Amino acid sequence: MNFWTGKRIVIGLGGGIGAYKTLELIRLCRLAGATVVAVPTAAALEFVTGLTLQALSGAPVRERLFAPLEPDGMDHIRLAREADLVIVAPATADLLARMAQGMADDLLTALLLAQRGPVLVAPAMNPAMWEHPATRRNVTTLQEDGIRFIGPQSGAMACGEEGLGRMAEPVMILETARRLLTPAILAGRRLVITAGPTREELDPVRFISNHSSGKMGWEVALAALRAGAEVDLVHGPVALAPPMGARMFPVGSAREMLDAVLGVWLKTPGEPLCDGAILSAAVSDYRPADRKREKIKKSGASEDMSLELTENPDILAMLSAWSGLRTREGRQRVVVGFAAETEQALAHGQQKLLRKGCDLIAINDVSAPGCGFGAETNAVTLIGREGPEESWPLLPKEQVAERLIRAVAGLLDRACAWRG
Ligand code: C5P
Repeated sequence: MNFWTGKRIVIGLGGGIGAYKTLELIRLCRLAGATVVAVPTAAALEFVTGLTLQALSGAPVRERLFAPLEPDGMDHIRLAREADLVIVAPATADLLARMAQGMADDLLTALLLAQRGPVLVAPAMNPAMWEHPATRRNVTTLQEDGIRFIGPQSGAMACGEEGLGRMAEPVMILETARRLLTPAILAGRRLVITAGPTREELDPVRFISNHSSGKMGWEVALAALRAGAEVDLVHGPVALAPPMGARMFPVGSAREMLDAVLGVWLKTPGEPLCDGAILSAAVSDYRPADRKREKIKKSGASEDMSLELTENPDILAMLSAWSGLRTREGRQRVVVGFAAETEQALAHGQQKLLRKGCDLIAINDVSAPGCGFGAETNAVTLIGREGPEESWPLLPKEQVAERLIRAVAGLLDRACAWRG
């Protein structure tokens, strides 16, 4: 099921110009499948109208403490009780101050006091107001109370100044909200993930590559980040925005990918070793034996041309060979590969698992409808060293990634238990 379906979000708005971005946030939340109730302060309604909020949220706007819509007259309690999450965006200096004091002098602050579940705050104000000692004190108090912050970001402000104070972008707020609500089954773990195609150059203007879009690896990275992992994402050329919070390692060729992956896998100075690797990149198996320094010219004699290719290193096999190296805590490391097959997927996947020596392999038949390069969905069978683990129906890649991450977390926990 879609993550946001059935989730109820209360979006509280303070009176700041950032409120115009909150309209987009409400739209995104609803598009994602959540139910939204907008609770503006009186000041927020100076910036956006109740009608706009109602039209976008698709629900009556709750604005007044003493004009309740609920039959029992306790809107503040009921809204808090029913909310999976409260987002405050924009959170102005005044609103933060009232929240830090535990005031309940309007509907929004009253429901925030009554809220037992998570609260996410996206501040937005002039940089001087954000830096003011009073605001600093209020932010510290609220963080100590367990409230999560996203932003503010640095940049040009509506007041004409440059600095820290812009409200975080709506997509970032929604992604942070999702992470807040996702069980942190990979907290404290670090994963290296590969994604996308590689490019093997023939000369300065041409290359051999494949149709990989990078979507599967991106979803795996997002699922790992949502589960609380640190992620190093080593990727070939793709047209996708970086997943929020991932450390990005853009590469071109398979050999560059190998260098970047090994750099992270073997040791990054000052960093803990990775706990696992999930290699979803479509690495070119071969590269031109001799990359020409100048552009290859036509011979002019209408002759066929042949290319000599040489085999690329197998990153998955190499990492598996190094997986005996323990993490700093003495944990066994876990290596996961993908197998894109066009026939006898299970048999070929099983052979691949043995040949490459990894712990898990996610097999998919790329010739099946809805699967393969660029598709939004995938049908995967997961096999481990002891045989088939799970077989999943055709699912959106996001859900395939979530299931894969659950399996990896389980394997890491088991690896931990074996080590005592
Ligand atoms: O052999 P095949 O390309 O089908 O193997 C697929 C798996 O191996 C994927 O996990 C892919 O990322 C990995 N691989 C690799 N290095 C290569 C070829 C494949 O890591 N040179």
